[in-house]
Amino acid sequence: MSSWVITGVSRGLGFELVRQLSEDPSNTIFGLVRDKAAVESKVAVEIGRKNIHIIQADTTDPIALEKAAQYVAEKTNGTLDYVMANAALQAKTALVGFDTLSRDPKGLEEDLIEHFRVNTIGPVHLFNAFMPLILKGHAKKVIAISSGMSDPEMTLKADIYQATSYAMSKSALNMAIAKFSALYREKGVLCMAICPGAVDTGILDIQTEADGQLAMAMFAKFKQYSPTFEGLGSAEDSIKSVLALVNKASVDGGYAGVFLSHTESKPYL
Ligand SMILES: NC(=O)c1ccc[n+]([C@@H]2O[C@H](COP(=O)([O-])OP(=O)(O)OC[C@H]3O[C@@H](n4cnc5c(N)ncnc54)[C@H](OP(=O)(O)O)[C@@H]3O)[C@@H](O)[C@H]2O)c1
Repeated sequence: MSSWVITGVSRGLGFELVRQLSEDPSNTIFGLVRDKAAVESKVAVEIGRKNIHIIQADTTDPIALEKAAQYVAEKTNGTLDYVMANAALQAKTALVGFDTLSRDPKGLEEDLIEHFRVNTIGPVHLFNAFMPLILKGHAKKVIAISSGMSDPEMTLKADIYQATSYAMSKSALNMAIAKFSALYREKGVLCMAICPGAVDTGILDIQTEADGQLAMAMFAKFKQYSPTFEGLGSAEDSIKSVLALVNKASVDGGYAGVFLSHTESKPYL
């Protein structure tokens, strides 16, 4: 019997996490979302299982996260096995580099702050809010869904100048995971960041021809970084391997505080 808190379950990889985990009736899944009514009806229609609870909480709002933790504690007798920071922002600014963004310094600053607010600071609030429950849980696993884009080695290998704010915010997330591990490893808590690979979730919402061309330029960089890269994979396959790694990883096995690909090897793509 395991309990899971996952953010950003309205769509994409978060929704797939809920779908796969809820297949096991002994799991209880708490999904945090920004539009509870919409996600509840989507879950009812597309998954339809009783072990899923949808909770309203913008992950950038620490008060909403504290309330969510109270709600979960009431249902689980104060414990939690897994917390996963999956919600993230990747704005269309991901398609260009600092040269283009520098034309609007105020906009660049806001883009950086918003990515950090959602992708770095939100997970920090999330982990703080749920850590008292995790410390009383059995599995004691704190997982951040990060990205290979956070790794300077990937950037430098193919001069990937795109996704500036996103990559910087995910690098900072990896460091946050290391810091949480530094605090809680000795108490048996595994804190770990995982890249799920490149997955077709419509994350960039390409609508114009110009954006399509910019996206193609980024994919060309991905191919240069990893010549075997053949395009985006499925959410189902990605989440299967992410969950296999979450299941396998342990403090004693050398996974404490690290950032790894879901395949445990590079390249990330
Ligand atoms: N897809 C990929 O190729 C890829 C590659 C590497 C890493 N990742 C990482 O994998 C994770 C999932 O990606 P995805 O492709 O599934 O993304 P996605 O389809 O864009 O979904 C993002 C989710 O985050 C939620 N969210 C955003 N801001 C939020 C906030 N302030 N509070 C609460 N929820 C918020 C969204 O909710 P709303 O519906 O309310 O907007 C949505 O559920 C992310 O951490 C991403 O960085 C993805």
